[in-house]
Amino acid sequence: MSGPQALRCRIGSLELDSPLLTGSGTFGHDGLVTRFLQPGDLGALVIKTVTPAPRGGNPPPRLVETPAGLLNSIGLENRGVDAFIAETVPLLRELSKPPRAIPVVANAGGESVDEYVHMVRSLDRTEAFAAIEVNLSCPNVQGGALPFATSAEAVARVIEACRSCTERPLWAKLSPNVARLGPIAQAAERAGADALTVANTLLGLVVDWRRRRPVLGAGFGGLSGPAIRPVAMRMVWEARQAVDLPIVASGGAATAEDVMEFVTAGASAVQIGTAGFQRPDLISRIAADLRALLKQEGTDLESQCGSLQWPSPAASGKV
Ligand code: FUM
Repeated sequence: MSGPQALRCRIGSLELDSPLLTGSGTFGHDGLVTRFLQPGDLGALVIKTVTPAPRGGNPPPRLVETPAGLLNSIGLENRGVDAFIAETVPLLRELSKPPRAIPVVANAGGESVDEYVHMVRSLDRTEAFAAIEVNLSCPNVQGGALPFATSAEAVARVIEACRSCTERPLWAKLSPNVARLGPIAQAAERAGADALTVANTLLGLVVDWRRRRPVLGAGFGGLSGPAIRPVAMRMVWEARQAVDLPIVASGGAATAEDVMEFVTAGASAVQIGTAGFQRPDLISRIAADLRALLKQEGTDLESQCGSLQWPSPAASGKV
């Protein structure tokens, strides 16, 4: 397929114009996308996590740059779901209607199963969202306690409970801060997730050694950007081996070549986050490059998806 249709893709039942999504919370809550991105280039706008009650977020500093990366500790700052529904959802609804027709994916956070259920019910009722991504993996909340996504049982409890509250596509956003993703991905699949977002930021620490203090106000932070791309790639491949669900890759993609790597490893779509901070028009640039690459290589997204061939033991030198 070529021309304007070349980037069309599916994430389960959801059909999108493009496999390029924003990373949750990296492009604002308003219509800014339409100022920077060309129609048809953005598959969906993924919104920053919303929680039941307002959250002030973590103490500053909240961001520090690292070689090829960014360590953040926002702490899920947001005004809470009631304010979100009253003030932001009307804007998002406009965005999702023609002529813009940009699908919007909500992102739900919580500190307990009940809070996640409350969020998914509330977001579902607005009828403004094409899908709901359940953020099980923020590394920056609960005073450093492990997020739900580090336990297969906890993931299953949250997804199962949320599943019964919505028929909308439900995506489970998993964590890279685990030794093996496969069992956790399988738990999400069994509990009824429609897709997996793989993954979130890698837990990290930057030290101001002169002050003998962490640079970030909350101590640890989540690392994103090109530095984590090989880790995210490995996790997409691991998830691809473990489940049949569509995978939305998230972790360091910044070019069309990166997107093709993720697709080949098994992703149906790719979120662009940190790289977009430097260039808000990046998704349109990647979309143009991606169309050219697909044409040049005579391939398409569907046949490329998950086509990675693993080297045989002989090829790895272990004969
Ligand atoms: O700190 C934050 O708000 C980060 C959120 C996340 O990584 O999910």
